[in-house]
Amino acid sequence: MMRPLSVERVFLVGPMGAGKSTVGRQLAEALGWSFVDSDAEIEQRSGADIPWIFDVEGESGFRDREESVLEQLTQRPKIVLATGGGAVMRENSRHFLRERGYVVYLCTSVEQQLERTARDRNRPLLRTAQPEQVLRDLFVTRDPLYRQTAHAVISTEAGQARDVMHKILRQLREQE
Ligand code: S3P
Repeated sequence: MMRPLSVERVFLVGPMGAGKSTVGRQLAEALGWSFVDSDAEIEQRSGADIPWIFDVEGESGFRDREESVLEQLTQRPKIVLATGGGAVMRENSRHFLRERGYVVYLCTSVEQQLERTARDRNRPLLRTAQPEQVLRDLFVTRDPLYRQTAHAVISTEAGQARDVMHKILRQLREQE
């Protein structure tokens, strides 16, 4: 029998297109925990999609909703939570994540992000003529915030989501 984990929540942070949802789903399955995507939860609770929320309430309205969803979801036991790329923008949200679970920063290159988000219409920040520049600017602002929030940093640049998932599992087992 394997020793039970000392951690009971895993929160994935990182930029759009880093693979948080794909890895998160696989990790939850391997652990037998539930998987929640905070963006999907925000959409479900507000009855509106993310572009609509950005259009009508602006980014700050979206961040308010995100903060309140994170406040609640970070208290659930046995959860793998994939957060939105901007979840680290609010100090309260960073605090909920850092203090209540094991936070993994999934990082990747802007080139990979562009590839993985190319066909997606659900990301208002990338509805621009210069998505590459937007992603580079976001990286400069947010990379330090991801790092200060995370307990571990893992690159999703090469290999399969499954390899990343196994790396996280190994790190969880090393936690005392
Ligand atoms: C955002 C990332 C998105 C979503 C929203 C804002 C951001 O989540 O929360 O469009 O600020 O980077 P994903 O990282 O899941 O795409």
